[in-house]
Amino acid sequence: MAMEEEVFSHDLLIVGAGLAGMRAAIAAGEGLDVAIVSKLHPVRSHSGAAQGGIAASLGNSDEEDSWETHMFDTVKGSDYLGDQDAIEMMVKDAPGVIYELEHMGCVFTRMDDGRVAQRRFGGHSKPRACFAADWTGHTILQVLYEQIMKRRVRVYEEWYMVSLIVRDNVCRGIVAYDIDQGKLCVIRAKAVLFATGGYGRAFKITSNAHANSGDGIIATYRAGIPLEDMEFVQFHPTGLWRQGILVSEGARGEGAYILNNDGERFMTNYAPEMMELAPRDLTSRAIQTEINEGRGIGGQDYVYIDLRHLGKERILERLPQIHDLAYDFTGVDCFEEPIPIQPTAHYSMGGIPCTMEGQVTCDPGNTPIKGFFAAGECSCVSVHGANRLGTNSLLEAVVFGRRAGTAASEYAKGEVLPELPDDANQPAREEIEWVLNNQGSESVMAIKDDLQTSMMENCGIFRTEEQLKSQLATISKLRERFSKVKIDDKGRRFNTDLIGALELSRLLEFSDIIVTGAVARQECRGSHYRTDHPKRDDENWLKHTLAYRTDDGPRLEYKPVTITTYQPEERKY
Ligand code: FUM
Repeated sequence: MAMEEEVFSHDLLIVGAGLAGMRAAIAAGEGLDVAIVSKLHPVRSHSGAAQGGIAASLGNSDEEDSWETHMFDTVKGSDYLGDQDAIEMMVKDAPGVIYELEHMGCVFTRMDDGRVAQRRFGGHSKPRACFAADWTGHTILQVLYEQIMKRRVRVYEEWYMVSLIVRDNVCRGIVAYDIDQGKLCVIRAKAVLFATGGYGRAFKITSNAHANSGDGIIATYRAGIPLEDMEFVQFHPTGLWRQGILVSEGARGEGAYILNNDGERFMTNYAPEMMELAPRDLTSRAIQTEINEGRGIGGQDYVYIDLRHLGKERILERLPQIHDLAYDFTGVDCFEEPIPIQPTAHYSMGGIPCTMEGQVTCDPGNTPIKGFFAAGECSCVSVHGANRLGTNSLLEAVVFGRRAGTAASEYAKGEVLPELPDDANQPAREEIEWVLNNQGSESVMAIKDDLQTSMMENCGIFRTEEQLKSQLATISKLRERFSKVKIDDKGRRFNTDLIGALELSRLLEFSDIIVTGAVARQECRGSHYRTDHPKRDDENWLKHTLAYRTDDGPRLEYKPVTITTYQPEERKY
C-alpha cells in the first residue's frame, strides 16, 4: 500500500516540546502562525526528568552571589571549553527568567521569609539552584504547557520528525511521520527551530528517556550541517544502580553523603574542598575509580548515597521524588537505608552549532543556514563546554529557547514561504519503505543492546585509543547488521517497531560521531577522560570539534573557543 502524504505550512515550526521548544513558542508572540511537532505529548518531554533545580544568582541564600561568580564557576566547570560570551549572556539573563517563570505560575520552593529558596549544586561555589522540591523540570514543563495552550499554539503530537529540508543554505521545512495515522507529511515553514533534546540513549546505563535518540541532531547532520563537540557526554554521578534513573544532585545539595564499601566519604580523597559537590566529571570519575579498585559495595559496581541523616521530614519536603524512585525501582527506603548508585549517562554537551540567538551555523566561520534555529540540549552554543554544571541545563533551555524563539520569529516575519524542492520527502519516504520492507534476520532490540553495552564499555567515563578504535569497528559491524534488520509490524498506524528502527539508525550514526571525535581528541578535558593522554592540552586542544558527514564517515574540523574574561587555569576543587 502506498504511503499517504500531506503538506502543511506554518510561519515558525518548532520541533520538540520540552522546555526550550515551548519557551521558544511563547517568545514568538502574537501575529505569527507557530506550530510544534513533538514525538511525545509535551508534558512527557524529557525536561520533566530534570529534578534538582535551575541556576540563577538571585543571592537569596548567599547575598555575595553574583552573575560574575556564576560565570566563573560555569567557565571553570566547562574545563575552559565553554564560549565565554555565551556564558556571560546566559548567567546575566538567569535571574530575570526565574521571575518570569514565577509570574507564569511556577511554584518554586520558598524560604521562611517567602523568597525563592536556593540550594547548593556541584561545581557552583554558591547556593544558586532554584527548585520546586525535586520536581523542578516537571513543574516548569507544566507551566509552559499551560502557556502554549493559552496561546493556541498548534501541537502535532506523536509525530516523528524524519528529515530536515535544506537547499542552497536555506531551511525550508521538515518531513515528519504522523505516528497515529501512519502518514508521511511535509511541513513547510519560513523558519524551523529544533529543540529536540540530547543523545544519551547510546549508553546502557542512562538517565535519559527512551525518546532521547538524537533525531534532530541526525536530521541536521544528514542535511549537510556539521555537529559540534559530540565527544563530550556527561555521566551524572548518581544514577540508581542498574537502572540509571537520576538520583538528583539536589540530594547532595541538601547534604547527602557518598560512601564506599568501607563506609568512607571517599570524596575527601578527590575533592577535599567541595567533597560530594564537586563537578560531575570529577565526581563520576571518583565513584568509578572506587568501583574499579574494588571499593564498591561488596566489591560490586555500585556505591551508596546516604540521605538518612537528613531526616524524614526534610526528605519529604525537598526530595520526595527520590524517595519514591528509589523505593519503586530498587526497593530501598531511603529513610532507613542508603541508596545504591552508579554513574549514569546524563547529558549531551555537544550538538547543533549555533549562535547566541540560536542561528544554526555550518562551518568554522559561523556561516548561517538561513531560517534554521536550535536551542536546548540538541544545540551547542556552547555554554557547557566539556562539562556542564548541574542546573545550568534548565537555565540554558529557558534562556536560549526564549532568545532563539525571538530571533526565529523575527526572521519569519520578514520572509515568504520558501519553495520546496520536488524531492523534498524522498529520503524520508525511502527510509520508511526500506524499514517496512527489508527482509533480514536481525532485531532492533539486539543491535541496540549491543551498541549500548559496547558504548558503555569503550566510550564511557574512562577512554583509551585502543578501546575507542575497537568501538569504531564494533559500530561498523552493528551498522552492517542493521542493513539486515527486520521488523515484525508491517502496518502503518502506531507502528512502534518502525519508530524503534528509525531511532536505532540514528543512535548508530551519532555514536560513530561521538567515538570519532573521542579518538581524535588526545587529551583529558571535562567529561572526556583519556587515560592514555592524562592531561588537558590547551596548546593543541583548546578548540571545538566540528564533525561533517561524508561517505567515509565523519570528517573533523575545528574552530576556536571564545575566551573573553577567564584564561584557562588548572581546575582544583
Ligand atoms: O541532579 C539533578 O537534579 C540534575 C539536574 C541537571 O542535570 O541539571
